[in-house]
Amino acid sequence: MTKLSIVGAGYVGLVSACCYADKGYSVILREIDQRKYEAIQQGKPPFREPLIDEALKRSLSSGRLVVTKDMQEAVLNSDIVFVAVGTPGKMDGSIDPSQVRLAAKEIGVTLKQAEGYHHVVVRSTVVPGTTSKIVKPILQKASGKKIGETFGLAVNPEFLREGSAVHDTYNPDRIIIGDLDPRTGDFLEDFYRKFHDGKPPPILRMSSASAEMTKYASNAFLATKISFINEIANICENVNDADVVQVADAIGLDTRIGRKFLDAGLGFGGSCFPKDVRALVAASERCNYRPRLLKAVLYINEKQALNAVRLALEELHSLRQKRIAVLGLSFKPETDDMREARSMIIIQRLLKLGAKVVAYDPAANENARQLLRGKIDYAKSMQECIRGADCCIVATEWDEFQKLTSEDFISLMRRPVVVDGRRIYKPCSFAEKVRYRAIGLANRESLEGV
Ligand code: UDX
Repeated sequence: MTKLSIVGAGYVGLVSACCYADKGYSVILREIDQRKYEAIQQGKPPFREPLIDEALKRSLSSGRLVVTKDMQEAVLNSDIVFVAVGTPGKMDGSIDPSQVRLAAKEIGVTLKQAEGYHHVVVRSTVVPGTTSKIVKPILQKASGKKIGETFGLAVNPEFLREGSAVHDTYNPDRIIIGDLDPRTGDFLEDFYRKFHDGKPPPILRMSSASAEMTKYASNAFLATKISFINEIANICENVNDADVVQVADAIGLDTRIGRKFLDAGLGFGGSCFPKDVRALVAASERCNYRPRLLKAVLYINEKQALNAVRLALEELHSLRQKRIAVLGLSFKPETDDMREARSMIIIQRLLKLGAKVVAYDPAANENARQLLRGKIDYAKSMQECIRGADCCIVATEWDEFQKLTSEDFISLMRRPVVVDGRRIYKPCSFAEKVRYRAIGLANRESLEGV
């Protein structure tokens, strides 16, 4: 059976390692960060993700997953090495490929003394051209060998979503292989055919740059869908009786459009969409193309979260000394990840306007506390959060928030003003009892006669 190694135990690296080991492969995971390394060795994933705790424990106890800090141990004891190190965004939007460079150099040095043919696969998200223009020359220089001689190189982007990363690893929509060496492409294709028990999803072979671009184009398209529906939502708010949810349900039935990623709200956050769209903008500007659509997608997204504050202001007129309850902090439900969370933008603005903020999140209170320290209060439950509040803003659509009824808001809040930033409530169930304002929903009172 193919022996695998994975360089970098971030989200993608650790999830892939656990899934491959669970499937029976022997996997060596190389991580140099001491804290991550220790946590993983003790069977504790450094992030929250369904199914991963059990998968990690099983993989370690079966001996199929070994964690190491030693690149030589990883590379020399495997047939294929996946590079899954981070590519953080820089201030100018471009990505910082230094971890990829370093990994390529270390792998190259190790390959100098390797026996047999090794396959190097770039799984990190890198801008088009990176693998052929940066990784390939570094590997060749460090190893003193040419691609195709004793090692090969390919690009294999991932499309894992936080919260369903294990499920996505076993059930991808497609597998993308960008070849720089057809032998490595064939090897990878064969690996995936076996991993998926002979019934893989469509496997697409293409150039390495097309594979790299596919990852960015996927995320940029989904981000565009979100900014598009948010723009429609913003227009709906100004048209008497319009509701973006009805519009999204209707246009989503057009099979050319589809309903997914048409949930209007406060915009997209997380570790991928904002970073990847910015990186694609930066990369295209570097080759002298101005990507107007993608810039508009980012612009709409930057402004969108603040619409929640605008709606609160329309109801309360001033937020000074007002107690504002924020329900939901993480960038999306079922995660404690606060990266680029829209809640942060809202809270910063609320504080600037003199509001007193109390927040509740089923998973992210602790992570938010580290970012905001003592600037806001944290509630232990959603009821405690809205108690005595002048306004409640729903910032993340956790399922449990749907259990709150109009009676809860009326009895617990000082004033029952609800700003539904994620469209989790049915407007009709709130009408007349609660001041209900929502993204993409026309405000009947202010628009009468429009
Ligand atoms: C995304 C991609 O889906 C995944 O394929 C890629 O590999 C990494 O980036 P993820 O960041 O986990 O995954 O989150 P996703 O579920 O895609 O949501 C991203 C953001 O978009 C969230 O902030 C979410 O709230 C927002 N979103 C999503 C909307 O505002 N409306 C929608 O209809 C869908």
